[in-house]
Amino acid sequence: MNHKFEEGPEYPKFMDNNDELGHFRHRFYLKKGTIYLCGNSLGLCSKDAEESVLKALEHWKNEGVKIWNCEDSKFYLYSNILAKLMAPLINADPDEVAVTGSTTSNIHQAISTFYKPNNIRYKILVDNINFPTDRYAVDSQVRLKGYEPKDAVKEVKSYDGRFLIEDDIIQAMTEDVALVLLPTVLYRSAQLLDMERISKAAKERGIIIGWDLCHAIGAVEIDLKAIDVDFAIWCTYKYLNGGPGSTAGMYINRKHFKKLPGLTGWYGNKKETQFLLRQEFDHQQDASGWQIGSPSILSMATLEGALKIYNEAGIKNIRKKSLHITRYMMYLIEKLGSYGFVIGNSKDDVKRGGHVCAEHDEAYRISLALKFRGVVPDFREPNVIRFTPIALYTSYEDVYNLVNILLDIVKTQSYKEFSGKRALVV
Ligand SMILES: Cc1ncc(COP(=O)(O)O)c(C=O)c1O
Repeated sequence: MNHKFEEGPEYPKFMDNNDELGHFRHRFYLKKGTIYLCGNSLGLCSKDAEESVLKALEHWKNEGVKIWNCEDSKFYLYSNILAKLMAPLINADPDEVAVTGSTTSNIHQAISTFYKPNNIRYKILVDNINFPTDRYAVDSQVRLKGYEPKDAVKEVKSYDGRFLIEDDIIQAMTEDVALVLLPTVLYRSAQLLDMERISKAAKERGIIIGWDLCHAIGAVEIDLKAIDVDFAIWCTYKYLNGGPGSTAGMYINRKHFKKLPGLTGWYGNKKETQFLLRQEFDHQQDASGWQIGSPSILSMATLEGALKIYNEAGIKNIRKKSLHITRYMMYLIEKLGSYGFVIGNSKDDVKRGGHVCAEHDEAYRISLALKFRGVVPDFREPNVIRFTPIALYTSYEDVYNLVNILLDIVKTQSYKEFSGKRALVV
């Protein structure tokens, strides 16, 4: 793709007219007069997602408990059905994917399955700039095994609060480390770690490795077959547009299918014997065996429509546009450098996920001024505005207009009309 950007309004028009993914925009509910750049936090509702959730609702309305039997037990087997749609995004086999729980509960499930500390190997290796829920889960898992996090949780520290150095991570894989949990893309700086290199290093050292794909799935290409990780977990409400709190995902490498899940429940029982309701757990030996309780059908149904769009568009094409449009955005924001903006993510395509971080001393108040003007970004402490152009529904013209509004806000200092006091949800 051509990276010779131009500043004026003609360039975005030209790009939009030639955007192979442009037609997907009309399948999403975009509010008139709003530039939505927050799909890394909560993706937008599509007509497809709406249709699939309404269908599920109809089944419930018309059939009550028989919803579990309708369409060849589709909803009873919903995790498996959605796994088929989800697996191509990470190049996994469908039976290695479960659509279940939340990211955090899936971390608990995975760690309780794979963390088997002994006198020699008892530490979990993490980084100190990941989204904190991962850390909270890791800390409680080591406590459950009778350790103190200060002894059993080993931290790789970022040197600047933005980035991690892969060599530091690998060096920290000492022989006391039992398990590593890392984010593929860092939520603040959008740093994309080299999963293949890090996973290979863990494997060579006999360490179990799991990845948090929350900011990666649906944004970057991931090839779990080639990488051979032990487990992965992710949410579906960001780039996958599954809706607020939509059911999360989990990958279990098939070589672990015979392991007993750390947290067992009747939905992890073999399908053929689940309704015999025996007291002995009869493990379904594939990823769906890591489900715990009844699936949240309405929080999964949105995904059926949303994932269809992904499979039509293709993750390769999505990544290609995402890289190009984020480059264009950085190009325009850098022109505002004299107003105090610093790009806080890597400009290298190989090291960048799907969002752009504009750092500014007044980032919070600027983000409020943007919202007031119809732009929806988000803010992350202490000084980052995250802008996420989503390949499926953000236009080049949206990016062009955003930067003009941003320029006006900093030029006129209109952000000073807003309080710096943080809202409950920022
Ligand atoms: C890397 C990462 N992990 C986990 C979560 C959230 O976990 P949950 O889906 O359980 O709320 C987020 C939320 O933004 C995240 O960025």
